[in-house]
Amino acid sequence: MLLCKRRYCKAYKSMSTAFKISSFLETNSRVHEFEYEVMDMRRVGEKDINLLSVLSEEEIRQLDSLKIEKNRIQWIAGRYAVKSALFKYKLQRAVLMDLSCIDVLKGEDSSPFIPQYQDICVSITHSFPYCIAIVSNKKIGVDLEGISEPNESLIRYFYSTEEKNILENLKKTDEYCQRAMIFWTRKEAVSKLLKLGMRMDFRELNTSKNEMTIGNYYIYLKSYICGEFALSIASE
Ligand SMILES: CC(C)(COP(=O)(O)OP(=O)(O)OC[C@H]1O[C@@H](n2cnc3c(N)ncnc32)[C@H](O)[C@@H]1OP(=O)(O)O)[C@@H](O)C(=O)NCCC(=O)NCCS
Repeated sequence: MLLCKRRYCKAYKSMSTAFKISSFLETNSRVHEFEYEVMDMRRVGEKDINLLSVLSEEEIRQLDSLKIEKNRIQWIAGRYAVKSALFKYKLQRAVLMDLSCIDVLKGEDSSPFIPQYQDICVSITHSFPYCIAIVSNKKIGVDLEGISEPNESLIRYFYSTEEKNILENLKKTDEYCQRAMIFWTRKEAVSKLLKLGMRMDFRELNTSKNEMTIGNYYIYLKSYICGEFALSIASE
């Protein structure tokens, strides 16, 4: 039994982060009814004709307004990932589409949306080198962050009392940074689901449980440590 556990741990450690991210999303996509795409931005070239060919005229216009290379790469990866996820979503419903006729735009609140399919919810996250997009018929938010030592003032100002108490008990353990980042990604995922972004009152949000009610929304939270990253999904 111990041998099996050791073998399992070794096998798990040798899995690539991208594989861990995809496995987590695959499992949850069935329960929470979404489609997803994970992209490795190291493979995104600004001149990659396959990627650029799925951009619409409006998207190319917006891309032209971005000057910093990192932002351009993130932007291309985000559009491509959303469109791949949308393609899978529509394929499930026996619909094929020309992806270059679909726009993935930013609303006034900066949240992503598809004008041609306003009933479909979209969420995007990037944390180098990964970009994840999710599409669903339910409200949804996704966030991925690299795990690092959390800034104490960030915890003081943005974490709820319950979260702070849990972290206080984990101080000086290996779990401290992971749990702090999981709370953070959960907050970001909920803020994306509600389309509030930074306007969300993060301190009021207690993400220490896997379920929460905000207004009329009953929200499920799922999180996972994928190698050096924390990943969370908030789903209606
Ligand atoms: C907007 C926000 C959601 C971005 O989160 P982030 O973790 O920095 O970045 P991510 O890569 O995970 O997410 C970016 C995506 O969020 C989406 N997004 C932006 N505003 C959004 C909103 N109001 N609602 C839903 N999604 C939003 C966009 O799709 C964006 O990708 P795109 O620009 O390619 O379209 C926001 O909560 C934020 O800026 N957080 C950072 C807060 C922070 O660092 N605070 C430190 C203390 S001041």
